[in-house]
Amino acid sequence: MHLFRSALALHYLCTGLLTVAERRRWRHIIIYDIMFGEERKNPLKKYLLFVCLGNICRSPAAEGVMKSIVADDPRLDGFVEIDSAGIGAWHTGQLPDSRMRKCGASRGYDFSSRARQVKPQDFDRFDYVFAMDHENVADLNGVARNATDRKKILCLADYLTDHRDYHTVPDPYYGTQKDFEIALDLIEDACKEVARLLAEEKL
Ligand code: 4NP
Repeated sequence: MHLFRSALALHYLCTGLLTVAERRRWRHIIIYDIMFGEERKNPLKKYLLFVCLGNICRSPAAEGVMKSIVADDPRLDGFVEIDSAGIGAWHTGQLPDSRMRKCGASRGYDFSSRARQVKPQDFDRFDYVFAMDHENVADLNGVARNATDRKKILCLADYLTDHRDYHTVPDPYYGTQKDFEIALDLIEDACKEVARLLAEEKL
């Protein structure tokens, strides 16, 4: 993956498809990745973590949607790292809920990450930690170790543009298939806005 991305970037550099500034950014990212490996946090990239209660419905969907948006945008592809986690550990290792997977598949997504629990060290790696609801925000504040960590916690619903009447991404787990569709509508809406802000370097 790392080598493939580097080869692709070199191809772009050679064929002049990017602006001078974009080429310079790519060059720095490639050199940093080659020197330190992709496990080390790259200061030229943005790291996003999506968090919900169980990490089997909303946050894996947000992870999949954001990965898809980023992969389709040459301003973002290669510059953004995305992951998801849950407040609880009940579903660790599980695939996303079949109802959310079905919902995603009908819109062209493949939600196939494995659930894990959020940990304090996630605040070292991630620049932004997007919570799905206010309970998640409160729980994340309990995981955060200090004010620097707490500043990274954001509410994904604050980035809604077409659904401003919602202030959270409601938990669909005990709901119907329609509740999963609504959750995915909201996630797509907010992730598009987050991607726009990242691409315009406003986030
Ligand atoms: P999520 O949904 O937080 O969007 O992954 C839930 C999944 C599982 C549970 C609650 C919410 N649960 O209670 O097991």
